[in-house]
Amino acid sequence: MAKAKTKFVCQDCGYESPKWLGKCPGCEAWNTLVEEVETKVMTQGVLPVSGLSQEKAVSITEIAGALDPRIRTENRELDRVLGGGIVPGSLILVGGDPGIGKSTLLLQTSHSLTLAGRKALYISGEESARQTKLRADRLGALSPLLYVLCETNLERIDEAIEKVAPDFVVIDSIQTVYHPAVTSAPGSVSQVRECTSHFMRLAKTKGIAIVLVGHVTKEGAIAGPRLLEHMVDCVLYFEGERHHTYRLLRAVKNRFGSTNEIGIFEMREAGLAEIANPSELFLSERPRGVSGSTVVASMEGTRPMLVELQALVSPTTFPSPRRMSTGFDYNRMSLIMAVLEKRNGLFLQSQDAYLNVAGGVRLDEPAVDLGVAVSIASSFKDRPTRPDDVVFGEIGLTGEVRGVSRIEQRVREAEKLGFKRIILPAISLKGWIPPEGIAVKGVNTVAEALAAALDE
Ligand SMILES: Nc1ncnc2c1ncn2[C@@H]1O[C@H](COP(=O)(O)OP(=O)(O)OP(=O)(O)O)[C@@H](O)[C@H]1O
Ligand SMILES: [Mg+2]
Repeated sequence: MAKAKTKFVCQDCGYESPKWLGKCPGCEAWNTLVEEVETKVMTQGVLPVSGLSQEKAVSITEIAGALDPRIRTENRELDRVLGGGIVPGSLILVGGDPGIGKSTLLLQTSHSLTLAGRKALYISGEESARQTKLRADRLGALSPLLYVLCETNLERIDEAIEKVAPDFVVIDSIQTVYHPAVTSAPGSVSQVRECTSHFMRLAKTKGIAIVLVGHVTKEGAIAGPRLLEHMVDCVLYFEGERHHTYRLLRAVKNRFGSTNEIGIFEMREAGLAEIANPSELFLSERPRGVSGSTVVASMEGTRPMLVELQALVSPTTFPSPRRMSTGFDYNRMSLIMAVLEKRNGLFLQSQDAYLNVAGGVRLDEPAVDLGVAVSIASSFKDRPTRPDDVVFGEIGLTGEVRGVSRIEQRVREAEKLGFKRIILPAISLKGWIPPEGIAVKGVNTVAEALAAALDE
């Protein structure tokens, strides 16, 4: 009998090598090559799903169904992240840390779709039907149109989809499913790739929306090759701090919508609840009238969010001071500190500096810069900021404050939450009349902003 041919495949990037290597030449990761038995399935699948390749080229104007209505999930946060609802025939990948609530989110979504008269099939490869039932009981997600199957064999999953004919399928998780014709272990690159491309064909040919749950590696990327992210239509990450109850849903790829929207949920006993006003939540524990604390208005997609920034600057005797940043880019923080040092004469070289975005959110918008500068300066000088100020603006290397977009929405949000004064880029004020109830202070430089915010 001929010896089975084996190869070594990088579990991160899918690089293949005939012999084992400590370091993957493809992605430079260490110890990621795993031996897999070579198989020749692919293309003409053993499974009875017709390939897309049999279709002929047609004029784009003749293609029917361009106005495919999106399926609303009745979960406003999820709909927002997806760009208005689920597109039938799309393949969505949801990744997230263990225990973050992926199964909860998808079980709830399946249930709310059944309320609108659609059939949902929830396939679990990780939990028994009883466990799923227990969770459904707790979430109040019991509906005759919600079908549950505990299966990991792709052929049987196929049969079930054929029999139930659902509109929406959840595969929890893609790493547990195996293709019987592929000899590698479930969760290996070959299996994940083969199963995903199978679900892709299934979704496209039958017009079913399929959601795959993906495990996340230590580094936070979806386990399996990057390839997986290329194959699907939509990649969502479900994230949150272990010690907080709220969760963020973020799209990193979306073929049918924008990727800068986020959805915010709170994990409760009865499942995930939508959070309609995130600013209130993020500001709920804010101390008032202390140094180092500033509220910034950041846009998350089309929604403004007020978040508190905290800085702590304290002298150190070590030659290289410590700098630490949570929820904000470390390099950007160093840059802002350099501007403060050079342009505003703050002697920060001998100071440790810590920056924290309260509530565990991540801010990556340049408009947050000015808030960071004010927080650091306030802590350094030990001068408190006013508790009813909101600050935003981008900082340039010469110490100028640059304009930001959508100031009206930011100001309106601040007004709604009872803030009294906004410090913002003067340049953004052009051609806009600020509302009555709130003072607006336009600034051109960081120095002006510090003078206003710290009452110097
Ligand atoms: N009775 C409860 N009350 C409140 N929260 C609960 C309760 N039971 C579970 N949870 C929350 O639900 C989380 C588990 O959710 P879920 O099983 O959906 O996560 P998951 O992302 O699917 O996990 P896994 O990676 O193991 O599949 C727990 O970490 C906990 O925060
Ligand atoms: Mg789960």
